[in-house]
Amino acid sequence: MNENFIQINGISKHFGNVKAVDDVSFSIKEGEFFSLLGPSGCGKTTLLRLLAGFEYPTNGNLLIDGSDITALPPDKRPTNMVFQNYAIFPHINVEQNIKFGLRKLGLTDDEIKKRVDDVLALVKLEGYEERFSGQLSGGQRQRVALARALVRQPKVLLLDEPLGALDKKLRDEMQLELRTLQKEIGITFVFVTHDQQEAISMSDRVAVMSEGKIQQLSAPNELYKNPENIFVSDFIGETNFLKASTRSKDGDHINVAIEDLGDFKVKNNLNIPENSSDVVCSVRPESMMISRDKSDWDICLEAKINQTSYLGEMTRFYVEVSGINKVITVSSQHFDNQSFENNTCFISISLEDISLLQKK
Ligand SMILES: Nc1ncnc2c1ncn2[C@@H]1O[C@H](COP(=O)(O)OP(=O)(O)O)[C@@H](O)[C@H]1O
Ligand SMILES: [Mg+2]
Repeated sequence: MNENFIQINGISKHFGNVKAVDDVSFSIKEGEFFSLLGPSGCGKTTLLRLLAGFEYPTNGNLLIDGSDITALPPDKRPTNMVFQNYAIFPHINVEQNIKFGLRKLGLTDDEIKKRVDDVLALVKLEGYEERFSGQLSGGQRQRVALARALVRQPKVLLLDEPLGALDKKLRDEMQLELRTLQKEIGITFVFVTHDQQEAISMSDRVAVMSEGKIQQLSAPNELYKNPENIFVSDFIGETNFLKASTRSKDGDHINVAIEDLGDFKVKNNLNIPENSSDVVCSVRPESMMISRDKSDWDICLEAKINQTSYLGEMTRFYVEVSGINKVITVSSQHFDNQSFENNTCFISISLEDISLLQKK
């Protein structure tokens, strides 16, 4: 397997004084389901369009499978794109939509028929050949758009928020299907989304973007467990930030003073320097324990429950800790809002669950 199948080398794209993509370098592996994840406006679509050839970079170069494609037009690249708003032609049927433009590739009628049949089976649209756009559901239209891109047998499929217009249940189903389909055909997918849950549930690896730059590129569980900076920790899942400053190092740990709480020794995976006040401690809501009684955990704080939201599989508590002027979010699968007298509780934290982070 080619580890550097797609190479993005020092790529920037400026629109006037907007740096939509700002000196980005990384590689995508062959056969990988790779996602670009980040908030609206961070440069995801621009980066995808640069790969597709709909934009040309201000700086840098792009290689796919060893060939420099930087200056090639879209139809000379081994890529195909599925767009955000799944535009399929309304005046021709499903089969004609999928066939569209295939003849230009110099294929015979038999070859075209075989390709169309294969791709219809792949996206589970057999029997829908004669239908028009208006006779299809949102999910089916999205499948047609997918089929139309796949029928050209690209080496790389580029997908720009393809599930964004679907309602939640259908989106969850399509996420699974898309993932299965990608494994089945084995081509490289570059998938753009602003939805962190979508990216981490589907991808082999995820690049988290903000303001045109890559903040972290990791496997999904790494993004969640070991975020490399405050932006990623905040964007992936939910977390509580506690102001802190570092003191002296102690092997792979470091002493920190957490504001209003005192001095603790925490792991220092990111090798953050001593005597820095540019740091925070991040603690996930689900890594804390909420209880009626005091615990013997590393940190145990008396608190008052301000607000409770019952979420079915878990309950989220917003608590105010005595002595800290901050609302902390704790989630638990074991309590509903009836369980605490006078809203008094204890929240417990294990030092192992504290991530020390720095601004990048
Ligand atoms: N053609 C363009 N002309 C001017 N600015 C653009 C153009 N395309 C994108 N931008 C700007 O570049 C930034 C990144 O946009 P985009 O790549 O669409 O972000 P995303 O897809 O992550 O929402 C935004 O500030 C956007 O306004
Ligand atoms: Mg976009």
